[in-house]
Amino acid sequence: MKNYNIVLLKGDGIGPEIVNEAVKVLDRTADKFGFTVTYDEALLGGCAIDATGVPLPEETITKCKASDSVLLGAVGGPKWDNQPGNNRPEAGLLGIRGALGLFANLRPAVIFEPLRNASPLKPEIIGDAMDIMIVRELTGGIYFGKRGNFDEDGVPAAYDTEKYNVNEIERIARVAFDMAMKRNKKLTSVDKANVLDSSRLWRKTIIKISEEYPEVELNHLYVDNCAMQLVRDPKQFDVIVTSNIFGDILSDEASMISGSIGMLASASLNSTKCGMYEPIHGSAPDIAGKGIANPLATILSVAMMLRYSLDEPEAADAIEKAVSEVLKTTRTPDIYTEGTTKVSCSEMGNAVCSLI
Ligand code: IPM
Ligand code: MG
Repeated sequence: MKNYNIVLLKGDGIGPEIVNEAVKVLDRTADKFGFTVTYDEALLGGCAIDATGVPLPEETITKCKASDSVLLGAVGGPKWDNQPGNNRPEAGLLGIRGALGLFANLRPAVIFEPLRNASPLKPEIIGDAMDIMIVRELTGGIYFGKRGNFDEDGVPAAYDTEKYNVNEIERIARVAFDMAMKRNKKLTSVDKANVLDSSRLWRKTIIKISEEYPEVELNHLYVDNCAMQLVRDPKQFDVIVTSNIFGDILSDEASMISGSIGMLASASLNSTKCGMYEPIHGSAPDIAGKGIANPLATILSVAMMLRYSLDEPEAADAIEKAVSEVLKTTRTPDIYTEGTTKVSCSEMGNAVCSLI
């Protein structure tokens, strides 16, 4: 029987509760589809700072590198707000992305039919469905560029640098074009080429790679226009490819449009099969430990893991189907509406398991 080694980075806040439910669902899926999973845990974020003084201990990197994939809960919280920038929980997250070479971040923004009314946009704007895949470059750009603080004629100043090289743009472009080929063959590349040299290189490189994908219809938007178009007419988008910082911003916007921030999963991939999977929402320290967090985004992250890293597409389908089904009747408080049953985080995990 096939066995997969998964590292759990439960992290902070609601991280441990939601990861525990996702593990329940993965175990249930393993039983059903005939494979086994062994787990190892490692520290990342605030919990790692508390235990070791740093947000990304060396041991965590070693364990993740040796795994078949990594499941992450969430990191951060007010407790660590006074840490210096390079020792914050978020620095640990950037560090693990860099250490594992996770350059491609897939962030689907979808509307689940039973949650259609949760979108803040009018029904006629949303249309029948919203299904956008944001492909965000994750290990380059201003997040990883040269930065510093300096004295500018007696005035404290700071800078961060947006930099991409052609290789970095080409590899993320291929991920996005491949994704477009599997979907509706429509790709929007987002940049700020009217202002930034790095964006002009981005656009030129995307156009060059598009020659390898003659079937994909490619268009380009400036990031400010894209932000506007997302709320004006989200239906026009299928796959969006963009830089690290633009992807950070646009993926939050897209998740809000779906109205389902507690529902959205993400995958971060490198050039091997090993990926890191996590919900797109944060650690929600205000509700941590209360047992009311919504574990569905983490459960759906497990589905992405099964699809993109473990080659178990049927198991992935089964989880996604169970989640669609469970939403008809069963809700955690964040998505509760009258006529459905309000459940706790662990009851939600059990409900999903019972449908697999
Ligand atoms: C995200 C988050 C992170 C990012 C933070 C927590 C460092 O906002 O995954 O989108 O900016 O990449
Ligand atoms: Mg973000």
